[in-house]
Amino acid sequence: MHAVALAWMALAVALVPLQLFVTAPYGRHVRGGWGPRISNRLGWLAMESVSLVVFAALFLIGPAHKSASAWVFFAAWVAHYVNRALVFPWRLRGRDKTMPLAIAGSAALFNTVNAGLNGVTLGWIAYPESWLADPRFVLGLALFICGAALNLWADGRLMRLRTPQADYALPRGGMFERVSCPNHLGEILEWSGFALRCWNLAALSFAIWTAANLIPRALSHHRWYEARFPAYPPARKAVIPWLL
Ligand SMILES: NC(=O)c1ccc[n+]([C@@H]2O[C@H](COP(=O)([O-])OP(=O)(O)OC[C@H]3O[C@@H](n4cnc5c(N)ncnc54)[C@H](OP(=O)(O)O)[C@@H]3O)[C@@H](O)[C@H]2O)c1
Repeated sequence: MHAVALAWMALAVALVPLQLFVTAPYGRHVRGGWGPRISNRLGWLAMESVSLVVFAALFLIGPAHKSASAWVFFAAWVAHYVNRALVFPWRLRGRDKTMPLAIAGSAALFNTVNAGLNGVTLGWIAYPESWLADPRFVLGLALFICGAALNLWADGRLMRLRTPQADYALPRGGMFERVSCPNHLGEILEWSGFALRCWNLAALSFAIWTAANLIPRALSHHRWYEARFPAYPPARKAVIPWLL
């Protein structure tokens, strides 16, 4: 399992140059030439529910004794993916928006491997009861909760910007004054916190994949905002305050 997780991490890093030059064509970056399209809502539901089902099934059938900390890992994963697969798609505004089937398919494939790796690891490895008091667990949980709160707040704020008059508007307030994509920053913090408190290679690989996916995407969003809004706040960074 270690070798698979290491190879999976290496793939995430190897694909970064590609992600920096080819922005995944969904949301504001959707464009022609990527084959048939499906509705955004159906796409998000289909690709993200894979993570919920595969992880939950493997965790629950795994033979490891489930200590309290293992149930905290399970609750965090399930809460995140209930939101992403079952709530987020119904909050999207813009009923007629679509994404390429190829994007939904490749995300579902990614989620199968990622949820499989994390589900097998947490289903088959027992954590001692004392892990709840380990500083890695405590700090990781705090980071996960802060990241999730930022991600949820920023996603909600962005979705409420859409009106019948304007497809996109300039986001303002809170962390939007520091970075263009606080939702992506929140997601990176979330899975970094998950990796810290699980302290295993599978969770680390997910944190690396999240950063490898979302930092290039946030850079593309940032360039898009600067091109679209001439008065875009010059001090605002893409995803890491004051840095990037
Ligand atoms: N873990 C991972 O690897 C991973 C990978 C991808 C995404 N995600 C997560 O999935 C969520 C969605 O990602 P995303 O890249 O699609 O986020 P996004 O581009 O920021 O969009 C989020 C939502 O807000 C809308 N929106 C964004 N900016 C807007 C603006 N200025 N005015 C009006 N509406 C706006 C978008 O509409 P449109 O869709 O029509 O643009 C979309 O419905 C995020 O929470 C992200 O962290 C995670």
